[in-house]
Amino acid sequence: MVKTSLRLFIRCIATLVLSVLPVAAQNPDYDQPYRPQVHFSPEEHWTNDPNGLVFYQGEYHLFFQYNPFGDQWGHMSWGHAVSTDLLHWHELPVAIPEHDNTMIFTGSVVVDRQNTSGLCTHGDCLVAIYTGHTQTSEGIRQTQNLAVSLDKGRNWAQYPGNPVLDLHLADFRDPSVSWDPIAHHWVMAVSLPKEHKIRFYSSADLKQWTQLSDFGPTGDVNGDWECPDLIHIPSSNSAKSIWALKVGLNPGAPQGGSGEQYFLGDFDGKSFHQSRLRGSQGWTNYGKDDYCAISFNGLPKDQKPVLLGWMSNWQYAAKIPTTPWRGQMSLPRHISYVSDAAGLALKQEPIVAPLRGKNYEISALSTNTSTLYGSGHTLQPPFEIRLNFGHPVEPIFGLKIFSDQQHWIEVAFDTNKKEFYIDRTHSGAAISPDFPTRTKAPLVTTRPYDLTLIVDRSSVEAFAQDGTIAMTDLVFPVSNNLQIQIFPDDAKPIQSEGQLWELKSIW
Ligand code: FRU
Repeated sequence: MVKTSLRLFIRCIATLVLSVLPVAAQNPDYDQPYRPQVHFSPEEHWTNDPNGLVFYQGEYHLFFQYNPFGDQWGHMSWGHAVSTDLLHWHELPVAIPEHDNTMIFTGSVVVDRQNTSGLCTHGDCLVAIYTGHTQTSEGIRQTQNLAVSLDKGRNWAQYPGNPVLDLHLADFRDPSVSWDPIAHHWVMAVSLPKEHKIRFYSSADLKQWTQLSDFGPTGDVNGDWECPDLIHIPSSNSAKSIWALKVGLNPGAPQGGSGEQYFLGDFDGKSFHQSRLRGSQGWTNYGKDDYCAISFNGLPKDQKPVLLGWMSNWQYAAKIPTTPWRGQMSLPRHISYVSDAAGLALKQEPIVAPLRGKNYEISALSTNTSTLYGSGHTLQPPFEIRLNFGHPVEPIFGLKIFSDQQHWIEVAFDTNKKEFYIDRTHSGAAISPDFPTRTKAPLVTTRPYDLTLIVDRSSVEAFAQDGTIAMTDLVFPVSNNLQIQIFPDDAKPIQSEGQLWELKSIW
């Protein structure tokens, strides 16, 4: 039995790797070493947080923190890209540049369908609500400001009445604004980073804001609170609707540096109340490299919320070894939640299926890994693997992905330690002492041992246990020719079945 399944597996992988041709980017501007092939990155220069994610007139807009003048943080402006499928992005000129000593920090964009702001000239328009970061003679001042676009986000004009919210504070940032269809007004969640509070405001016209309530301090308060996002998760099947409040934490996240926690509960139009059920607090991402994720405004009613984050960490973002760009975004993911015997949890499903190319069934897996390594067969990113390990009898099982004999990452379940983990301590370039890490998430034994893994040229994104664990980690492998092994390597069978897809480059 072991032999049969081993043979089956080797045959399967051998066919698979032999027939995989290098999947190169079509566009030479996006074909440098480590250039992501299924994740957005700007053609050149620095990016951090995604901003103003919005769907409007058939286009998804991705604005992003951007330095138009170099590959380090500075001159923060809003870069801009559009897509019709959330995957293939077309970069446009800078949307909102820094001006008059004010940098344009993180914020959101709403579709003002009924011209509540009076800023639209014909029908609806896009309004950006962002933090202005100004160096004044008395020090830094962060305020909330508006800009309006009448031409599908291409050109933006500053609202002459800016700022619309000013608490005379140095730290008051990252407004997340959405329309509350029940109360019929706009709601803003904005951060008071040093106080570990998310403050809620309401407004009828985006210009005048009324304070509603504060959430926090609670949960993890070991660093600044940034980039809040209040997400309504509509009811589906038997699950009733719920609200998620996502809060960035930097530094001091348990994985080191920047990380993001979520709270599940209810927003009653004024305040957010965290649920008392188990699992109402968790980490949006248990890896090191997914920060300041926000959700899309303006999505069609029947579409699940979509979340997308910056794939880096402030500990070493300035040292990412890529040129002529620095920074990339996570894959978009559909957001929902699970409520099971173990309690509540946010659920994330990466949107990647439209990029799938050749497909390989992996069934009856069992392997002596040494047989696979050194066989000369390699696989080039980007690719996606989906595996279901069934009811494992082995304590530790998962994948090893080698970029040469000395360098690999491990993505695995450790049932002894009750952890799911990605270990990149042997992955290659250690760009900073904070880089070689083993990121981990608590396992719930009653949830399935499934794994979806998206491997790009400089990252791995893992989703496990019915999407309740998301783990995103940058990796800078020593070569693009990867070899995959399933372990344990003592030739004991591990039950698993799955598929592998080559992914098509988005460029
Ligand atoms: C988070 C952050 C935000 C701020 C932006 C500035 O990564 O610090 O709080 O608005 O980056 O670029």
